[in-house]
Amino acid sequence: MNLKKDFPILKRKINNKEIIYLDSAATTQRPKIVINKIKEFYEKYNSNIHRGLYTLSEEATSLYEKTREKTAEFINADKEEIIFTKNCTEAINYAVFGYFLKILKKNDIVLLTEMEHNSNVVPWKLLSKRIGFKIGYLNIDDSKLDLRELDEILKKRRVKVLAITHASNVLGTINPIREISRICRKYNTRILVDGAQAAPHIEIDMKDLNADFYAFSGHKMLGPLGVGVLYVRKEFLKSLTPFISGGGTVLEVTKENLKFKEDHEKFEGGTPSVADVVAFSSAIDYLNKLGMKNIKKHEDELTKYALDKLNTINDIEIYNNHLKDRVGVIAFNLKNIHAHDVASLLDEEGICVRASHHCAMILHKKLGINGSVRASFYVYNTKKDVDKLIKGLLKVQKVFGK
Ligand code: ALA
Repeated sequence: MNLKKDFPILKRKINNKEIIYLDSAATTQRPKIVINKIKEFYEKYNSNIHRGLYTLSEEATSLYEKTREKTAEFINADKEEIIFTKNCTEAINYAVFGYFLKILKKNDIVLLTEMEHNSNVVPWKLLSKRIGFKIGYLNIDDSKLDLRELDEILKKRRVKVLAITHASNVLGTINPIREISRICRKYNTRILVDGAQAAPHIEIDMKDLNADFYAFSGHKMLGPLGVGVLYVRKEFLKSLTPFISGGGTVLEVTKENLKFKEDHEKFEGGTPSVADVVAFSSAIDYLNKLGMKNIKKHEDELTKYALDKLNTINDIEIYNNHLKDRVGVIAFNLKNIHAHDVASLLDEEGICVRASHHCAMILHKKLGINGSVRASFYVYNTKKDVDKLIKGLLKVQKVFGK
């Protein structure tokens, strides 16, 4: 598929070169229908939601709530289980401080993995400082989680929650959440999933995955910046404290009392980014039209093509060479060339990649490196983009006299 024409930014030139955008794991680009939807909202519907008893506000509320329904359908959940946040990080913080703060005790263990992005590490560390619980990490072996001991660990230790990424933002590895949830259920361990790198790329079915909390970002799946989603399994909604409370969340506030609303409105205090949420629904339409299975197939083909080509380069270290159970994210280093230099020189060719520890510092430490170059693909990328990346990398090596 060649969808570049749907993405206006991809017509731009950088250094007089066509943009080759390979940083979709950080944020994707937006198709015209999403950009137009934002414009349409401000031109036709702009008003605050859940408050006004006039047509504009009722229409805006309806568009906002329809997006909730569409988001729920997209991940096979119920609309009450969807809370809109600013991004995936805020969604994880919501679960950590709105739910786990209440249930975790000093002697508990929170289990993470070595491939977590900081958004699924830092909030837990912060909470651990307050409560005193210990944090454990599931190990990685050959780019995959070592799950052989999970059953034993959960049986023997007081693991209250497993907080785990669905797909690694560095290795691309997709973790078997369904299987992991099944084990967690056996021991009444809650499971929170960071779906930021999975929801844009594979079909998500909450009834099948069986997780308790699932967080993801709209801007990593063609939606506007400023929209995140927290799925909360119905049974936990009652005990979830409105972490972002305030205007719009309450039925009654007196000097003596506070009574929250009964429905999801109680979780979304303050005026949300309404236009962005509404435009997120156009992103979902676009993805649905393409079909998540086709998106995965396209990315698998690109990833295989890219890995085959990257492996022909001398002095390259690729951090996950497996083709199975992965999304289109490839991290690598060129020997003796700093990742930042690689990214800067690629930029001269119009190629956008990320170079750093990608906020996955524990993983980079495990790999024994300070940083890596990361190319990540999405629906608009083509094999030609990969060819340009390869050409760019060979040029980088030449500049460094390799
Ligand atoms: N989590 C985002 C990334 O991996 C920001 O780049």
